[in-house]
Amino acid sequence: MARTIENTVMVDGRRMTAAPAAVAYGPASMSNLGPGFDTLGLCIDGLGDTVSATITEAAGVTVQSDVPLPSTPDRNTAARAAQVILEAAGQGSGVHLKVRKGIPLGSGIGGSAASAAAGAWATNLALGCPLDKAALVEAVLEGESVASGGARHGDNALPALFGGMVLTSSTDPADYRLVKLAKPLYIALILPQISILTADARGILPPEVPFRAAVLNASDLAFMAHDLAAGAYARAGRYMMRDRLVEPVRGALLPFYDAVRTSALAAGAWACAITGSGPAMFALARNRAVAAKASE
Ligand code: HSE
Repeated sequence: MARTIENTVMVDGRRMTAAPAAVAYGPASMSNLGPGFDTLGLCIDGLGDTVSATITEAAGVTVQSDVPLPSTPDRNTAARAAQVILEAAGQGSGVHLKVRKGIPLGSGIGGSAASAAAGAWATNLALGCPLDKAALVEAVLEGESVASGGARHGDNALPALFGGMVLTSSTDPADYRLVKLAKPLYIALILPQISILTADARGILPPEVPFRAAVLNASDLAFMAHDLAAGAYARAGRYMMRDRLVEPVRGALLPFYDAVRTSALAAGAWACAITGSGPAMFALARNRAVAAKASE
């Protein structure tokens, strides 16, 4: 969602109108969902980051945020995404971004991706929308890679850009498909008071995995994506619970992992797993009431 607004600045104690600022919202998202490492993600309603972009005569990207964050394009996902947009537009101008973080840092619900998507969208909008969808995809993937130690993966970034559920590849350029969910999906989110950086959570993953486990994960992901698209969420939940490649390694970082899973299932959830690189976990529920019970 995006809009342009009048931007005012204080000059010599007087409020003056500056270049219009473009504002974009990037929603939070959940990724992996069990066997879909770097491949599947979907947006969450109600949580997100907002970025406003004002074009500047001076080239380059400057960033101001409401929480302490690095501000340079090599360390800030919104700044990197905006930089890619500026380079692709080739107009020689710069951009000033104001980032409002609605998503807790390092939580596992796509904060870096939300900022990248909002940063890319707002910058393109502030420039008068010179770029197409492919350029926006490239910008958010580049932006997200800043948080992932250089890895390009779109399982949070593309849902944050397009909304809904997205299947994506890690190829360059990325393939992706927007998948329509058959009906609303209710989740409980567990946001522990610790933070895990995506780059660190990726750094502990093994460089190679057993062949049999990879085959089973591939088939589980295919069935899960089918069932999610068909609205067969209870069945999809079965696959979410048995990732063999990533979750066993990352679960060991979360002392509460087994307890949270057991309690969520006891509360009637269909599934419970880590979202993204953690530490957040989610529980998939039949309705709001079960989601609320699982949250408790
Ligand atoms: N697929 C990514 C991961 C999501 O699990 O590392 C986190 O950005």
